[in-house]
Amino acid sequence: MRSIAHISDLHFGYNDPLLAKKLCETLREMRPDVLVISGDLVEHATAEEFARAREFLEQLPQPQIVVPGNHDLPFYNLWRRWTEGLKLYCRFITDNLEPVLVDDEIAVVGATSSHLFPVKGGKINAEQLDRLVREFSKFPSSLIRILVTHHPFDLPEPSNPRLLVGHSRRAVARLAPVVDLLLAGHVHLSSSGSTSTRYDLGGEAMVFVQAGTAISDRNKGEANSFNLLEVGYTEAAGKQAVISRYFWCKEKGRFEEGQRRAYCFGKSGWAAWDNAEHDRL
Ligand SMILES: [Fe+2]
Ligand SMILES: [Fe+2]
Repeated sequence: MRSIAHISDLHFGYNDPLLAKKLCETLREMRPDVLVISGDLVEHATAEEFARAREFLEQLPQPQIVVPGNHDLPFYNLWRRWTEGLKLYCRFITDNLEPVLVDDEIAVVGATSSHLFPVKGGKINAEQLDRLVREFSKFPSSLIRILVTHHPFDLPEPSNPRLLVGHSRRAVARLAPVVDLLLAGHVHLSSSGSTSTRYDLGGEAMVFVQAGTAISDRNKGEANSFNLLEVGYTEAAGKQAVISRYFWCKEKGRFEEGQRRAYCFGKSGWAAWDNAEHDRL
């Protein structure tokens, strides 16, 4: 079993310092095997914001898989966006835009869905998609294979399809045979589900997992949150994933475990495991 903490949309420059401190304490206590950060580390992509984000990441558990969001390129100043792109992200956070972490239970791969254009929306271009399919095809299917992007490939209905990665249907059809979980952010609302609801791929389905905004003031009607995933494979039960959401509880001044959802891999790919009495992995 592996535990993966999934945080997103920190938006340094537009964040709550108390939440940053509490998130840091909570994650250090949790000691996850991997920490995933699915983009929008900063708001205006200035050196000062990136320096604060860098300092924050250094206090959090390692190893980390980080991908950039649309705000990690200058978002409000188009001239800076075109001339600087991800320059400051690469300088302060990481110049590895396709990070990979593999052990004997999981394979986590990050991909950059935030490009110069579109400014807000996301895309995985044909070259990236080919590379991802090649990369994931190398991993044994007994591993839990996880793709991390900033923009989502899927969201619960009803949702605005413009929030999804461009040409998401084409990408999902290519990825579903070789990927188990899709982790993303961007929407500032947490959710999870099987891709089989939106994409009928004749028995191939992944689980999409959305993290809310962990510490920013840019809430979309939901408390700040992050996810803790416990994933694993056993001979008897096959592949399983339990996703717990932790929400900021203002009254108690801490992140509290909220909803928990379980998924398992069956004949029709990944689906929600409705048995509420499931054991923790
Ligand atoms: Fe965001
Ligand atoms: Fe975003």
